[in-house]
Amino acid sequence: MEINTAFQSMINLSQKKSGASDTAAFATDVNDGLSQDQKSLPSRYFYDGEGSRLFQEIMELPEYYLTRAEYEVLTENKEAIAREFAGAGFFHLIDLGAGDALKTKILLQQLTVQQSAFSYIPVDISGDILQQLSGSLQTEMPALSMQAVVGEYSKALEWLQANKSGRKVVLFLGSNIGNFKADESRNFLCSVRAYLQPGDKLLMGIDLRKDPDVILRAYDDAAGVTAAFNLNLLRRINRELGGNFDLDQFRHYALYNPQDGVMRSYLVSKKEQEVYIRDLQKSFHFAAWETIHTENSHKYTLPQVQDLGMACGFTLQTVFQDKNKRFADVLFSVD
Ligand code: AVJ
Repeated sequence: MEINTAFQSMINLSQKKSGASDTAAFATDVNDGLSQDQKSLPSRYFYDGEGSRLFQEIMELPEYYLTRAEYEVLTENKEAIAREFAGAGFFHLIDLGAGDALKTKILLQQLTVQQSAFSYIPVDISGDILQQLSGSLQTEMPALSMQAVVGEYSKALEWLQANKSGRKVVLFLGSNIGNFKADESRNFLCSVRAYLQPGDKLLMGIDLRKDPDVILRAYDDAAGVTAAFNLNLLRRINRELGGNFDLDQFRHYALYNPQDGVMRSYLVSKKEQEVYIRDLQKSFHFAAWETIHTENSHKYTLPQVQDLGMACGFTLQTVFQDKNKRFADVLFSVD
């Protein structure tokens, strides 16, 4: 699907409209995840309309320091960052997992003030959030040239490879890399690197290791918004696949391990129960207190980040941090 206005266009790489294949993929992934001994569900399915709205609420929570820390990093360093981006003439600014782009807007404004020539390409799995972003940018920055891409990272990278050449700056903000397992994060970074050429850049946001209590609270907030975000996965299964999960009979549980730096989130069955999913024509058994693993959020050290980049052929150029060193935005270059 393609929506074109004078201002911008939107490319939809998900196949919802031309067949039910997105729902089919969701059904397959749910079936696979709930059929394992250790049940699990992929965290990318958090972001339906309701989940994207809840994540925006999470970003405003007092406990969720990540967004504010990164906002500080970008605000304090916007001139230096924009100067690095604008170095050699026109470029595509590709924003992987743009969301509401609250943080990217700091850089977009700075680049505009500097009169840099660039086009903005936000990529996100949520079409709803990209519609919202297009609308807000249209009023806030009417002169901006932009093309939004709806889809998963891998599909978006394939599309970009085929459609956008020339100089590129890739943004991967918000510690979105944290959701990947160790081998996945390397595969992903190397696939980004494969799309880039010498002179291109990558700015990546990383949540750093810190007091375990601070990290845990960010994923187990007092108002229960993160719990609602996690439980929304079950609601989505009910809605899209005809499941009969009773949300009151599951609870959110978050656990941080400072040894490996992994924040793990679970949904825990409060009792022994059967859940039927109509579209799978299948029941799933839950023992009392059995868990569904729903998310990993990795916290990194700076040497780990440097190694990750180097393994894919990136050179670490600059590390930008907030004053409390909670979060880093790392600028990699391709030589
Ligand atoms: C969007 C992956 C960066 O892991 O911090 C927030 C998602 N999950 N609270 C994160 C999330 C629970 C978030 N990322």
